[in-house]
Amino acid sequence: MKAVELGQILAKARDFRRINRLLIRRAQASDLGSISAIEHGAHLRPWSRVSIAKELANDNISSFWVACQRPQPEKVAGYICFRIIQPELYILNLAVEKGFRRRGIGSCLILTCLGLGLRRKIKRAVLDVHRENERAIGFYQGLGFQFSDSNQRNKKNFAVMEMHFP
Ligand SMILES: CC(C)(COP(=O)(O)OP(=O)(O)OC[C@H]1O[C@@H](n2cnc3c(N)ncnc32)[C@H](O)[C@@H]1OP(=O)(O)O)[C@@H](O)C(=O)NCCC(=O)NCCS
Repeated sequence: MKAVELGQILAKARDFRRINRLLIRRAQASDLGSISAIEHGAHLRPWSRVSIAKELANDNISSFWVACQRPQPEKVAGYICFRIIQPELYILNLAVEKGFRRRGIGSCLILTCLGLGLRRKIKRAVLDVHRENERAIGFYQGLGFQFSDSNQRNKKNFAVMEMHFP
């Protein structure tokens, strides 16, 4: 397994934010409409508006962060939702609005989330990806995620991907 260090992740996230003029901040209740619109354009089985609202309100368990691109800092371009259940970080949802893709926003959201996890000493980051979502699989592999050995036990259409930390 590839071991990735906190310093590297944080430096990479900083570079991505600067180069792509991104602001990454905690999501707030007023982002619900934007997140829901992106969610419905991004996933075949999107989280409902009610589920998103619950995750947003559940901020002692789930972390919801959004990316905004300057010069429109109020416009949500993408988001990530994750949970830390030591020693693991679970990425529950990630999407970037179609018109904002391939600008490094998804990478920056992942790197920021990993940086937050590593500050809390996580040992593994894990996510489920639909086996036919080749775009997302390539994206995660490019960031250093690998298929997990536990895949046989997982749901038929989904694969587990993971990244380990020293
Ligand atoms: C997957 C997703 C989050 C990627 O977000 P993004 O902001 O476009 O990703 P990035 O710009 O950071 O891409 C980084 C790299 O990933 C790879 N990648 C991303 N999208 C790709 C695509 N459509 N085709 C091929 N490679 C792709 C490329 O290597 C890319 O680097 P490059 O643009 O320099 O070639 C976005 O496509 C999305 O929201 N998809 C729908 C929702 C989804 O599938 N979420 C994941 C569920 S597990």
